[in-house]
Amino acid sequence: MLRIMRFSGLFSVLLAIIVLSPSLQSFPPAEAIRSSHLRFPTSPHRFSFRKAPPFRNAADCAAIDIDSGVCNPSLVHVAITLDFEYLRGSIAAVNSILQHSSCPESVFFHFLVSEPDLESVVRSTFPELKFKVYYFDPEIVRTLISTSVRQALEQPLNYARNYLADLLEPCVRRVIYLDSDLIVVDDIAKLWRTRLGSKTIGAPEYCHANFTKYFTPAFWSSERFSAAAFGGRSPCYFNTGVMVMDLERWRRVGYTVAIEKWMEVQKSDRIYELGSLPPFLLVFAGDVAPIEHRWNQHGLGGDNVKGSCRDLHPGPVSLLHWSGSGKPWFRLDSRRPCPLDSLWAPYDLYGHSR
Ligand SMILES: *[C@@H]1O[C@H](CO)[C@@H](O)[C@H](O)[C@H]1NC(C)=O
Repeated sequence: MLRIMRFSGLFSVLLAIIVLSPSLQSFPPAEAIRSSHLRFPTSPHRFSFRKAPPFRNAADCAAIDIDSGVCNPSLVHVAITLDFEYLRGSIAAVNSILQHSSCPESVFFHFLVSEPDLESVVRSTFPELKFKVYYFDPEIVRTLISTSVRQALEQPLNYARNYLADLLEPCVRRVIYLDSDLIVVDDIAKLWRTRLGSKTIGAPEYCHANFTKYFTPAFWSSERFSAAAFGGRSPCYFNTGVMVMDLERWRRVGYTVAIEKWMEVQKSDRIYELGSLPPFLLVFAGDVAPIEHRWNQHGLGGDNVKGSCRDLHPGPVSLLHWSGSGKPWFRLDSRRPCPLDSLWAPYDLYGHSR
């Protein structure tokens, strides 16, 4: 895969990139260099995106004072990861959000990266976008990812969502976390206004899904684990690719540590097979604020190996999510797209102007 081929030991080049890149100057270079898994493309300009169409707030949007920055209380905060493999998807996701917002200038993006040089791609594609880039050090989770999972080439950046409460500015009290393989086709402000009640996160729940299969028999047969996780709760599956998160409450309760504790358990007892999803389920399943299913029509990636295409679930659609192994940009490029991939294509900004 692309991301493996881009591994390189050219540390002097890496050092030069870190010194020159404004996005990496804000964190200690020593920290960045210590990570031996930083990857970068052979040419920084290998990724070429067209400039997104300009966007403007409607007349009735709350006035945004340019100087108040990220702490402005009328902003809608969205967090998305950026990495070379899914960059095209992340850019399309941002574009879709702007296109469907009544107040696109009121959306602030928080990008989580582990690779250098992505800030300039965002800046040139969306010249007026309000955003900040945060470096997520893969070392934070390297020792927590169990060996079996690491063999499956799991990307440490998948775990960045666990650390949003620590990474983002303290004045950011709520954030919408979105995966990079989705498009939003409704006003993100509606999702932003979700009532969380006493819950820390909100997500569409799937109570008919077989919850048992996300954990091993060893987990279910151990009272020590299963009762500790779900005692007194009726857990339902939810997808961690679309979540509304109360960061203030998260910080107060310390959920990052709770998730890390389960990852430690996994290292010694193998309680699940997947990577970043199960620890989230262990901490939150049965304790999430339900969100309408229209906000995560997931599974559209289907199974790329078998070439299967998935259809939408019945009901209205505000967000389409290509979770699963197939991604629309790969299928469109290989000229074997699934029918729904044509809904993703209009948001794609990859390539030179046509
Ligand atoms: C749920 O999954 C478990 C584990 O894979 C399986 O043993 C069980 O039969 C499934 N239950 C249903 C109702 O499909």
